[in-house]
Amino acid sequence: MTDTRVTVHAAARIDEIEPALHGHFSEHLGRCIYDGMYHDETADGEGFREDVVSLLADIELPVLRWPGGCFADDYHWEDGVGDDRPRRRNLFWAQGREEVPEEPNTFGTHEFLELCERIDADPYLALNVGSGDPQEAADWVEYCTYGGDTELADRRRANGRDEPFDVPYWGIGNENWGCGGRMSPEQYAREYRRFATYVGTIDHLLADQDFDLIACGFEDHEWNRRFMEEVSKSAWGAEFPLDHLTLHHYYGRTMSIVETDDEDKYDQFLVEALEMNEHIERIAAAINATATTRDIGVIIDEWGAWHTEAVSETGLEQPGTVIDGLSAAAVLDIFNHNADVMTMGNIAQTVNVLQCLVETEGEDAWARPTYHVFDLYSPHQGNDAVRTTVDAPVRDAERTDDDLPLVGASASVGEDGTYVTLTNLDVRGAHEVEIDVEGADPTAVDAQILFEGQEPDAVVDADNAASFEPAAFDVGVGNDGTLTAELPPSTVLGVSFE
Ligand code: AHR
Repeated sequence: MTDTRVTVHAAARIDEIEPALHGHFSEHLGRCIYDGMYHDETADGEGFREDVVSLLADIELPVLRWPGGCFADDYHWEDGVGDDRPRRRNLFWAQGREEVPEEPNTFGTHEFLELCERIDADPYLALNVGSGDPQEAADWVEYCTYGGDTELADRRRANGRDEPFDVPYWGIGNENWGCGGRMSPEQYAREYRRFATYVGTIDHLLADQDFDLIACGFEDHEWNRRFMEEVSKSAWGAEFPLDHLTLHHYYGRTMSIVETDDEDKYDQFLVEALEMNEHIERIAAAINATATTRDIGVIIDEWGAWHTEAVSETGLEQPGTVIDGLSAAAVLDIFNHNADVMTMGNIAQTVNVLQCLVETEGEDAWARPTYHVFDLYSPHQGNDAVRTTVDAPVRDAERTDDDLPLVGASASVGEDGTYVTLTNLDVRGAHEVEIDVEGADPTAVDAQILFEGQEPDAVVDADNAASFEPAAFDVGVGNDGTLTAELPPSTVLGVSFE
């Protein structure tokens, strides 16, 4: 019996879904870069892991943030260009399986920017505010993006790259309220203004191209409000150069993923993931509380599941599971609902670390359940998000005041028609969903399902990876154009029609 009704208000446009909402984050941490993307038995002649590069190139990966994370405010870019690459302490993380907190600097600016070109992703570089200075930051921008006749541009050419790199996003630090210098919002706002001045944004005097400047916010929204208030106190006034404000939201910090088959814990975990919506609304409100003539977008710069298995000693590695994949689908739906304020979202961290998309072991590399969720959601990229209401049963999640809505959904409209994604967040049972699309009369419907028949704690590995791939799914089409789907527990469905 139908217990869930999804209504797609196809004419109620929210805004375009920026492809960058499906972005990613990579850091010099554990096996993300070394062993993950670079330098392994399967490396091509230039050091990239061909298998990983090919998996990343196969999905629509619009933007990649680097080199951190906490590491960004400990990174001096000149260590990672040219022939002389000093080995340094990595102040925050051990790398590889050896648990040695050292950075060999073999993967640096050219390697990262070339990787982005290979996988067709826009690069997003995070500048060092915590232990660096504005001159070092401005020099990095000039080195990468300047096409004229300066020592830095010539150095880039001597290091093998004639044409300037295209770097559309520059972040001013990372978590500067924490590992990026433990600053107050006022202190960071003043640093932000200094850095923004010298990276040359105002008149674009330095760079040959336009680029966006990104400030770090916090999950504490009073901190964000105070930052916004202070950053606007300068001669720039409401025209201060700030294009996006970010925050990081990790969830599941108290939940082991291998030792839990406690269904209440799954509910609690998903409720924590859904808190993303409130964070987006509150950071957008903090931006709006400061009168500005600029459009400042909301970026969720790092997000995803962080379980108790992911500790420094394991290089923040944790198993890739179906329940994590479900949480990603729920968050991507939230991003669609907030397409009018959101400009980017970067899940942590691309390969081997936290809720990565790709995992490696020796010569093997494979896609995790979350990889397939991103792939299933990719038709939303560039479409117009439209208002979608979900009337679904809810369950009281223990240890929280919040209820878990058992089915989530979002929809978008584009050149190829309408695309609806639905997630059954209920690990205990199926739900029959009716989908009404206002103003449309769907006939030819195509649907793909993820994770049917899998347990929520099913862990992917090199041998079973194929069993997490999408499968075709039958959706009923009524005479009145209403669609019906019997969604099995813990599944994600993508439905498209013209
Ligand atoms: O992604 C791991 C760490 O989480 C990052 O280095 C930091 O920005 C965040 O606290």
